[in-house]
Amino acid sequence: MSHDTIAVVDFGGQYAHLIATKIRRLHVLAEIRQPEDPTPLFARCKGIILSGSPSLSAFGEDSAYNKDIYGLDIPILGFCFGHQEIAKHYGGTVVHGGREWGRADLHLTPGHPLFAGLSPVERVWMSHFDSVTSVGPDFAEIGYTQLGDAGEPHHFAAIGSNTHRRYGLQFHPEVDDTVHGSEMIRNFVLGICNCQPSWTMERYVEEAVARVREQVGDRSVFLLASGGVDSTVAAKLFGLALGPDRLHLLHVDNGLMRKDESRTVMLALGEMGLDRHLHFVDASDTFLSALEGVVEPERKRRIIGDTFIEVFEREAAQLGIEHHLLGQGTIYPDTIETGGTKRADTIKTHHNRVPVIERMIAEGRVVEPLAELYKVEVRELGEKLSVPHDMIWRHPFPGPGLGVRLLCSNGCEDRDGFEEIEPKVAEIAGGYGVQAMALPIRSVGVKADLRSYEHPVLVSGEVEWERLVELAGTIFREVAGINRCLWNLGPAAPARVRPLAATVTRARLDLLREADAIVMDGLRRRGLYDTIWQCPTVLVPLEIDGAGREFVIVRPIHSERAMTATPAELPPLLLADLRRQILSLPDVSGLALDVTSKPPGTIEWE
Ligand code: XMP
Repeated sequence: MSHDTIAVVDFGGQYAHLIATKIRRLHVLAEIRQPEDPTPLFARCKGIILSGSPSLSAFGEDSAYNKDIYGLDIPILGFCFGHQEIAKHYGGTVVHGGREWGRADLHLTPGHPLFAGLSPVERVWMSHFDSVTSVGPDFAEIGYTQLGDAGEPHHFAAIGSNTHRRYGLQFHPEVDDTVHGSEMIRNFVLGICNCQPSWTMERYVEEAVARVREQVGDRSVFLLASGGVDSTVAAKLFGLALGPDRLHLLHVDNGLMRKDESRTVMLALGEMGLDRHLHFVDASDTFLSALEGVVEPERKRRIIGDTFIEVFEREAAQLGIEHHLLGQGTIYPDTIETGGTKRADTIKTHHNRVPVIERMIAEGRVVEPLAELYKVEVRELGEKLSVPHDMIWRHPFPGPGLGVRLLCSNGCEDRDGFEEIEPKVAEIAGGYGVQAMALPIRSVGVKADLRSYEHPVLVSGEVEWERLVELAGTIFREVAGINRCLWNLGPAAPARVRPLAATVTRARLDLLREADAIVMDGLRRRGLYDTIWQCPTVLVPLEIDGAGREFVIVRPIHSERAMTATPAELPPLLLADLRRQILSLPDVSGLALDVTSKPPGTIEWE
């Protein structure tokens, strides 16, 4: 069945996804669209939302997007950049200036359909450099912002034309700091666009089952079941759609799993009744030899992705499965962060999107029933499909596993730019009464939607959590070349830190597995496992004691969709446990907590 749909035009950044998830919570389907998509794709929607953009300005230059959408007789609402574009298109003026940042009070026109049910003054969240200073014919100001009672009003914070059914909001209703932003989105979607809320999880199940049956026909599906939330929910969905005989599950121990993971996953899949054709292969030797001597993160990811497929093809051939399709539990954000949208830079190659899989997708040999869903929706779907609670609420674990948490190095000091970086970080840290040093290795991060590969800073000393997070933010803002901040949990500030030559080896992986098991166990024992989104443990080949022993980093974060993240504070008792247990592991001499938000750091280190 077709659903009433809202097109969300993605002008870059992550805002479009926030908007889409807020609309979907209203049980209305939201599709992310590219600015240059053809008009017929928009014409079948009941409304369009133009997102903000971190890099585009509506001032001066002629922004390139499909402006024929303005000729469609469906309502359009713009946020921030989208707001300015609408104003400009219909004869208004946009100027550089009038920057607002953070919270503001919106004085709105009561009774306007966009603001139904809201108070005359609403708290909103602003983030803009350019401003609308006049509107064209048929348009009116429907809200302005003002700082306090006596401040100068900032006009045209909200504009609208009921004749054209075009509206613009300078602020971001999709972020939680706009207290009643969801209501504004609801008023647009259900009120002005008159969408029927038919996109429910029950219907999603029915429709996904029908789609899988249609795509698969009389063939069978072969799914790599890692035991993660996504592939487990996908397995259950395939089982429902195709029956147990046409679903082959393969769990690969790639040598990059957590401690005891493969055994636990095989048991859990069996308990879910998915064991009619449940295969297991220990391919750790294949993976480890493919990764031998490789240091560069993107190369490691590619090799892991390619080896997955190689192992999969080999096993499928051995098991005699012909005409199979490759099932994958790919979810929506997986496709975005590899440049799945035209505007997103390649931050990291996702293992579900390595070239060989792209080729299979082009040949129509891949079936991905969750590819439109966000993680929270996959979990909701898992609940509908009676996937056990523990499987649904496991922390996300990346496909390349510990491979992206085991940093490698050729042992060369990487101190590019340190002459400028070091005095700056030392000075900033000094203002907080602590010491800081840049580390001579790099990790992946994301800045203004672009991939960064920069140095971490290690902060040593006593400092309160809020001050520590503030210090990290100051360093990121003021020091180029830094994308992570670590808080030293070791006994003292190291005098000198040197990179060690290190590659992917079973011994290093075993060490990381032990450290990770200590962290996971600690979170569970202290009742924190469910409140923390994810907590990667990372092994970093840096030595501080001249004895060739490595550094362990613990990265607890809070997040809603993994698109952004904030560092999570751990209680002192847990920190003490981690110190005691991890620092007594053989071959570990340093321990730090990663206190980096995303951006500028990604959740994983590689
Ligand atoms: P980043 O590190 O990009 O991660 O902030 C966002 C979320 O995605 C997970 N992640 C992956 N998951 N295959 C996966 O299945 C991958 O290649 C991959 N890389 C990152 C990461 O754990 C986090 O939840």
